[in-house]
Amino acid sequence: MSTTWEHDPHAADDSERLVSAEFTEDDLEIDRSLRPRKLDEYLGQTRVKDNLGVLIDAARARDEALDHLLLSGPPGLGKTTLAGVVAAELGVQMRQTSGPAIERAGDLAAILTNLEPRDVLFIDEIHRLARVVEEVLYPAMEDYSIDIVIGKGPAARSLRLDLPPFTLVGATTRTGLLTGPLRDRFGMAFRLEYYTVEELSAIVRRSAGILGVAIDDEGAEEIARRGRGTPRLANRLLKRVRDYAQVRHDGRITENIAAEALAFFQVDHVGLDRMDLAILETLARTFSGRPVGLNTLAAAVGEEPDTLEDVYEPFLLQLGFLARTPKGRQATPRAYEHLGMEVPSESARQDGLF
Ligand SMILES: Nc1ncnc2c1ncn2[C@@H]1O[C@H](COP(=O)(O)OP(=O)(O)OP(=O)(O)O)[C@@H](O)[C@H]1O
Ligand SMILES: [Mg+2]
Repeated sequence: MSTTWEHDPHAADDSERLVSAEFTEDDLEIDRSLRPRKLDEYLGQTRVKDNLGVLIDAARARDEALDHLLLSGPPGLGKTTLAGVVAAELGVQMRQTSGPAIERAGDLAAILTNLEPRDVLFIDEIHRLARVVEEVLYPAMEDYSIDIVIGKGPAARSLRLDLPPFTLVGATTRTGLLTGPLRDRFGMAFRLEYYTVEELSAIVRRSAGILGVAIDDEGAEEIARRGRGTPRLANRLLKRVRDYAQVRHDGRITENIAAEALAFFQVDHVGLDRMDLAILETLARTFSGRPVGLNTLAAAVGEEPDTLEDVYEPFLLQLGFLARTPKGRQATPRAYEHLGMEVPSESARQDGLF
């Protein structure tokens, strides 16, 4: 199948970036309404779920706080959702904050001292915690206590405060950026994996049920195939396809209608959008297959290096379209095939990729 876009004057424009990590109000609303609350509504990730299920049962039986839990994986795979599910299964409250939101050590102390016994404290983007804040977290995680300094100068003294036992759930898109001491203090660490097409189909069917959308199994699968293994994106696609099916057809989503709608929204048959294709084209055409550094590539496609690394690259790596070599990023032979291009090139071959 060819992936170059034929020019369609009616096609959706760039303003509607489906893959992007940014959310519109609508997306947030959809995320909230479709978010599973209990473990058995949380589809896929069976290994993680099985493990967690046992540990949650054990903690509940002993009436103890669950071990601290680190969740990692690309955006939209269900880290925040899983933290909420863990709290609900434990029958406790979840307090939610994020690394960059906690500016001072005192902010974290205030949050910690307000927890109820066995509560879940969810810290999103935990790799972005300030150093001084992180240091407060160490004894809090280890001994359920913090040291606070009262007064100033020679009169200052340090006071140890006991905290209720609690469970820290940390989420990060990149474990590599966590400091060693912080990582070591988590009793469990799970990496969420991209979902299979079958798992995403089930998620799409569940979401369609909640939204009251008529969809057949083939329609759900077509959306799932293009959902980049990512529930958030599959749900967004479902919503766009629903709108399209209502306006252009009778509202029912079939395989053909899903395919037609997704072509209209410029998502190709493996889920690549225009930015993914721009990345591959840049590597394959502009740089003729030579390795390209992250910043150069980001500048060439007009995207932030961080977004490229967190949002776009993991999926291209997963598909085997992109290789990270010591010299930089390269398009793989499979990418050339997807772009309908001849595999080059002397320079790339010399780098041992082909
Ligand atoms: N296992 C799942 N089963 C069903 N739906 C899911 C599952 N995981 C995620 N979702 C859906 O995908 C949406 C996005 O998930 P979530 O916000 O938890 O992702 P995230 O990993 O926290 O992403 P980010 O890194 O951007 O914070 C949820 O609102 C939910 O609707
Ligand atoms: Mg999240």
